[in-house]
Amino acid sequence: MGVKPRERAVGGQENSMSNRLNAPNDLRAFWMPFTANRQFKKEPRLFVGAKDMYYTTHDGRQVLDGTAGLWCVNAGHCRPKITEAIREQAGELDYAPAFQLGHPKAFELANRLVDIAPEGLNHVLYTNSGSESVETALKVALAYHRVKGNGSRFRLIGRERGYHGVNFGGISVGGIVTNRKMFGTLLTGVDHMPHTHQPGKNNFTRGEPEHGGDIATELERIVTLHDASTVAAVIVEPVAGSTGVLIPPKGYLQKLREICTKHGILLIFDEVITGFGRLGAPFAAQYYDVKPDMITAAKGLTNGVIPMGAVFVTSEIHDAFMNGPEHMIEFFHGYTYSGNPIASAAALATLDTYKEEGLLTRAAELSDYWADALHSLKDCPNVIDIRNTGLIGAIELDPIAGEPTKRAFTAFLKAYESGLLIRTTGDIIALSPPLIIEKHHIDELFGKLRTILQNNI
Ligand SMILES: Cc1ncc(COP(=O)(O)O)c(C=O)c1O
Repeated sequence: MGVKPRERAVGGQENSMSNRLNAPNDLRAFWMPFTANRQFKKEPRLFVGAKDMYYTTHDGRQVLDGTAGLWCVNAGHCRPKITEAIREQAGELDYAPAFQLGHPKAFELANRLVDIAPEGLNHVLYTNSGSESVETALKVALAYHRVKGNGSRFRLIGRERGYHGVNFGGISVGGIVTNRKMFGTLLTGVDHMPHTHQPGKNNFTRGEPEHGGDIATELERIVTLHDASTVAAVIVEPVAGSTGVLIPPKGYLQKLREICTKHGILLIFDEVITGFGRLGAPFAAQYYDVKPDMITAAKGLTNGVIPMGAVFVTSEIHDAFMNGPEHMIEFFHGYTYSGNPIASAAALATLDTYKEEGLLTRAAELSDYWADALHSLKDCPNVIDIRNTGLIGAIELDPIAGEPTKRAFTAFLKAYESGLLIRTTGDIIALSPPLIIEKHHIDELFGKLRTILQNNI
């Protein structure tokens, strides 16, 4: 119960001695990411432990994890194999330089990743986050065309409402206005396709919506406008997550693939949330049977335990760089922590856990039960849409007039109080539980949510 000193520190004296005295319990110094800092620090919500499907709060309550942390803890919390692998690796080889040197586990992991990736995506670059995976993929795309002698292909095309992390490349191709508007001109040479959300037509659809597949032809219009010879790559989330879960309409992703292939444009799937079993296949590319030229991944790669991301590329892309004198670096890009030994060990143990427990396909077995429970909330007050695929669900609420986001944020706070972790974005509740979820957890989750929504928040 450490919250009292924290509260005191938040409102306490500004002098440095009191800062130091209060340091362990003082919330002021940490400027929290994507958080209403002032609200949080008045009313802190702290997790101090976690096991399987539940968090433990600082005041000793159990909270059912309805969001796999932040879409990342796919195998559930504190899984022994992963914990042990990290412990062992930290005592054996803590760090090895990533440039011009290596260590065995980074290579082993790349092979294991390629084994579960869509056919043909045979090479892996490592990063430390989803944002870095996106930057890396965009840079590979530009450089690929250049090494192929097509340096005029410099344009990158994203999509309205897309989320590709928070770095400059990612927010440039991304389409979430709040994440972009503060940051100047961003990357030049970027254009955006329209998003696929068609509220009037597709409300309360289970799985892929019927309407909107033809929105993909907008890509053809954009390519015509700029001329294909200037376009390097198109990046989309197969299922748009952070914007509030937009499921691809039937035929949409297939059409994007066709247009990209026709014009020699690389198609990048940002699978930071859909990767590692979220839809019931290792990657959304397999689930939708559409093969991109690159896949960006992170989150579930290490079960969220240690920061690590990856970019999968085809042999064609990789091989295009493998020319010139052999002593020369082929691609001037990388991170100090690319393929870090502890992250690699965590990822290998995560893949073992996924395999042993069938987690990369488990969402397929549970998705009907999940969808039934989710859509049963249709009759709750203020619910204007419900969407789902795999073990993902979204409940869109009618915004309070003049106070956008408040209704969903209230639901989030009430859920936390009642022992349930949900995520909200705008006035949309997004759900993405660990893939170890059982039916009784699904009942608990939607039972709690119904109580909250019925109370007319
Ligand atoms: C599709 C997608 N891309 C990129 C990112 C950024 O990942 P990170 O927060 O690890 O940088 C996210 C994070 O949610 C994401 O959902």
